[in-house]
Amino acid sequence: MNEYDSDRIINSLSANPVKNPSDADIIIVNTCAIREKADHKAVSAVGKYKKLKIKNPDLIIGMAGCVAQLYGKKLIKQIPHLDFVIGPREIPKLRDLVFDIKESASHRKINTSMDVEEVFKINPYHKEGKVNGFVSIQQGCNKKCAYCIVPTVRGNEINRPLKEILEESRLLINQGAKELTFIGQTVNSWKYKGERFHDLLDYLQELDGLERIRFTTSFPRDITSKMVSSMKENSKVCRQLHLPVQSGSNRILKQMKRAYSIEWYRDSVQKLKEAMPDLSLSTDIIVGFSDESEKDFQQTMDLIEEIKFDTIYSFKYSIRPGTPGELMNTHINDDVALDRLHLLQSRQREISLENNLKQVNKSYKVLVESATKNNPNEFFGRTSQNKAVYIKDIDKKYIGRIVEITKKQAFQNSFIGELT
Ligand code: 5AD
Repeated sequence: MNEYDSDRIINSLSANPVKNPSDADIIIVNTCAIREKADHKAVSAVGKYKKLKIKNPDLIIGMAGCVAQLYGKKLIKQIPHLDFVIGPREIPKLRDLVFDIKESASHRKINTSMDVEEVFKINPYHKEGKVNGFVSIQQGCNKKCAYCIVPTVRGNEINRPLKEILEESRLLINQGAKELTFIGQTVNSWKYKGERFHDLLDYLQELDGLERIRFTTSFPRDITSKMVSSMKENSKVCRQLHLPVQSGSNRILKQMKRAYSIEWYRDSVQKLKEAMPDLSLSTDIIVGFSDESEKDFQQTMDLIEEIKFDTIYSFKYSIRPGTPGELMNTHINDDVALDRLHLLQSRQREISLENNLKQVNKSYKVLVESATKNNPNEFFGRTSQNKAVYIKDIDKKYIGRIVEITKKQAFQNSFIGELT
């Protein structure tokens, strides 16, 4: 989501990105507020550019994204070399904003309005020939999860019109994209004028030149049987689903206000796996939320043992300002939460490797994306299940093509493969 917004920022300014910040005329730090650590990082990143501003007073420095939205005016007060803050919904106004600042040198700007029409107006920057791209289908979120700051900083769910989704997709395909990832906070709740997410998958399947469809993030409660069959029937839809469970305990899920039980989650996974046995599942887990007990945590450990996710993104609960979680005074000890996180992560590392080892000497279709950074004779691609595969000594003509690869060696997060 943030990467997508960064690409929209570049496009809205028709900017040429530079490698070295000292070569820039404008520096915009795009930020994430999901956990406290991320939001501290954002403020210190802006701090780093102070020296450049002293050297070059014409340099414009801005902060975009969720931290900008959250603290707006406070940041402008606290950081004297910051020229503007702009929230995620205001990106379509960025061009005018920068223009205004250039015209009236000392004028510092705060753009954090939530009622912006045409939130999807700016398309992302896409490098000609890049094999994969992102298309936003939804902004904001309507699920009021107790721990989560997203509804505060990104607002309520707005679904993008079907026509715009198809137009942006065609644009990226014309620029060389073969694989598109459709993004939103809870993508599978997408609906527009009577069309639902499963209908959208059917439309996307019809896009000429598109080879692969991915989407993220899905919300468990919004998995429908129509969605499952649409995933199964549409050959371009990849066998990969990111389905955040957050906890294995019903007691904690209830406090989190996740609107599903662990039985519902398990049942959905079963339906998905029955329809698509080769589906790869990943999830998000928060440990240490509220008064999570040893028993609650054990239920999370039991769940990962049962489902054997390929990847888990796991986090220690971080209290966020203005969320219902902030008002709960049931928080557990930080060290206990950290111990649980480490336990979860170390078991998951083993599971990921065990899953991957089972795939050695089997053949998979890999979309070759690019040469690797350090070796022009080594190429990187991904399977339909989103597994990273490194392939040596193939011709670069394979970039952008789907090839049959045999996995020869497995690691926790990747494979080495050869043309079959
Ligand atoms: N503390 C820790 N993790 C969080 N997430 C969201 N809010 C918080 C928070 N306050 C995690 C969830 C979500 C992922 C994007 O970030 O697991 O799915």
